[in-house]
Amino acid sequence: MLILGLETSCDDTGAGIVGDAREIRANIVASQLEAHRPYGGVVPEIAARAHLDVIDDVINAALREANIGFGDLAGIAATTGPGLIGGVMVGSMMGKAIAAVRGLPFIAVNHLEAHALTPRLTDDVAFPYLLLLASGGHCQLLLVRGVGDYRLLGRTIDDAIGECFDKCAKMLGLGYPGGPLIEMAARDGNARAFDLPRPMLGRAGCDFSFSGMKTAVRLALEKHVLTPALVGDMAASLQAAIADVVADRAQHAFDLLRNEGVAVTAFVVAGGVAANQVLCAKVKNVAANNGVAFAAPPPKLCTDNGVMVAWAGLERMRLGLTDGLDAASRPRWPLEEIRRV
Ligand code: KG4
Ligand code: ZN
Repeated sequence: MLILGLETSCDDTGAGIVGDAREIRANIVASQLEAHRPYGGVVPEIAARAHLDVIDDVINAALREANIGFGDLAGIAATTGPGLIGGVMVGSMMGKAIAAVRGLPFIAVNHLEAHALTPRLTDDVAFPYLLLLASGGHCQLLLVRGVGDYRLLGRTIDDAIGECFDKCAKMLGLGYPGGPLIEMAARDGNARAFDLPRPMLGRAGCDFSFSGMKTAVRLALEKHVLTPALVGDMAASLQAAIADVVADRAQHAFDLLRNEGVAVTAFVVAGGVAANQVLCAKVKNVAANNGVAFAAPPPKLCTDNGVMVAWAGLERMRLGLTDGLDAASRPRWPLEEIRRV
């Protein structure tokens, strides 16, 4: 059973093909980074047009990579939200059109669910597991009980982690997207050089806050001239502060679940920020301290891609959760509102 998945909710046009033995047959991603770079962030109108320009080629390239035709597919999955609505519509309309013409089932996939289920494809993780979903737009700790069955334990009350990385990178003159550039710059930096705040550390619950950290970075930089050494030190200090906060919040999630008698099989990180190796090392420790396995998909499956959409589609299709061609494109679509039956 092969499923084609389309991802167009932000600035990557992705087409992936996966099979039900967890095999990845194709993973094609066309990045629009260059189109958005001059603006230091994603411009929705540019994104929608760019998806439209390349989606045919991306799909054809995926079919070629898998060495199959449309006739070999068992279903078409597409991200129908949440995300930038113009792009979401490009991918979901394309998915629906292929499904209609080929007489294939269509599966409307929530982008967050696609990130959340990826560790089941890469590491065969069993339900229930604790998930840190950290990307440019999202930062949440979730209990994943099953496909379509999520409980929100904590979320950011202001910026997402990726957003914090991206905004601080801009202040450091590092460019966009900031996360990978901060991680690279931090390699030569001293993580103790700047004493940044750790917002929410030790607070009850599992919520996050990053806007204070961002302000602290800005205030500290005002007192200095940007040199490569300073940039490295700030990048390392910021990365360490973020990792400390995440580890603390995750431990609170473990405590909360333990108090309720809920045993999880693993601690999993997903979303673009999960590509950060320093953060992963830190949360891996938290998993070990709580006696559970740790899993993070490889970086190219952490950032946006079509494979994760195909996999989420496959998991839903196995449960008979297919959708009509009237499935809505949704700019906002929290995981707790997902359809299960
Ligand atoms: O999941 P994703 O590709 O797109 C969204 O759905 O947002 O995540 C992109 C985010 C960006 O904020 C980017 O800076 C961040 O993930 N990111 C990283 C790293 N790689 C990507 N953040 C920290 N370290 C990284 N290595
Ligand atoms: Zn994403």
